[in-house]
Amino acid sequence: MKVITVENLTYYYPGSTKPALKNVSMEIERGDFIIITGPSGSGKSTLIRTFNGLIPHFYKGRFEGRVLVFGVDTRKASVAELSRKVGMVFQDPENQILTLSVEREIAFGLENLGLNPKEIRRRVNESLRSLRIEHLRYRVPFELSIGEQQKVVVAAVLAMKPEVLVFDEPTAHMDPLSALMFAEILGELNKQGYTIIVVEHRLDLLVKYANRMVVLKDGKIVKIGYPLEVLAEEDIENAGINVPKYITLFKKLRSYVSIATIPKSTDEASKMLREIAYGNSNRG
Ligand SMILES: Nc1ncnc2c1ncn2[C@@H]1O[C@H](COP(=O)(O)OP(=O)(O)O)[C@@H](O)[C@H]1O
Ligand SMILES: [Mg+2]
Repeated sequence: MKVITVENLTYYYPGSTKPALKNVSMEIERGDFIIITGPSGSGKSTLIRTFNGLIPHFYKGRFEGRVLVFGVDTRKASVAELSRKVGMVFQDPENQILTLSVEREIAFGLENLGLNPKEIRRRVNESLRSLRIEHLRYRVPFELSIGEQQKVVVAAVLAMKPEVLVFDEPTAHMDPLSALMFAEILGELNKQGYTIIVVEHRLDLLVKYANRMVVLKDGKIVKIGYPLEVLAEEDIENAGINVPKYITLFKKLRSYVSIATIPKSTDEASKMLREIAYGNSNRG
């Protein structure tokens, strides 16, 4: 089932003579885990703003082509309606925080939906657990680290039970270990059935979870496909993206030893390297 369909989308911000998106077409299926990557200014944030109707309802400008969310043309639905299906976590969590306790922050949107207190409590607990932040329940969001705030914002979006979760560079403010753990959470949410769309530069964290990758450049899709296949292409190093180092290494190794597949993770890469090393020494 298609959750989002983008058809021949060209978009100009108001007053701009250069399109931020040029003739973009793509389809997102239920259960997909999609990485959207590309150099700064390539249109990643712009593209995801079309998924919950912020573009064209909030940003206006010139909008050609169409975006369908669960079959509904985004021009014919409100941002509020679309947001119930497509939950969005923006780049800077502090702009998305509204209350003075983590628990209240997660309950806030649920109260606005008119849910009963018991259901609210259940969903708050479930969200805290999913993000592994039960210990932050009574804390003041503004006093948390940005990485922790990011998790609180995700928990609040998750509690609304959208079907699709969209993230704009979620690990940008996280240290390497938090980013690694956050990627793992995204993988788990995807396993639970959420469709995941992530704008991200740190591809090494996500390739093992994703089934598709979109590479943007100057508002155009330059590559789309299974992440390891896209990253295995010879010219991808010129796309202005962070090709994981172990992938580049294996692409170089390919011309010396036979390699069946490019490894999905650094763990897999080191296992394969060991096999190559032992294989050679056994023969010699
Ligand atoms: N609110 C805005 N108003 C006008 N132009 C914008 C706005 N946001 C982004 N742009 C322009 O649109 C293009 C794509 O930007 P953006 O989608 O933010 O790229 P990315 O997220 O890949 O860094 C850039 O040229 C940027 O300057
Ligand atoms: Mg951006």
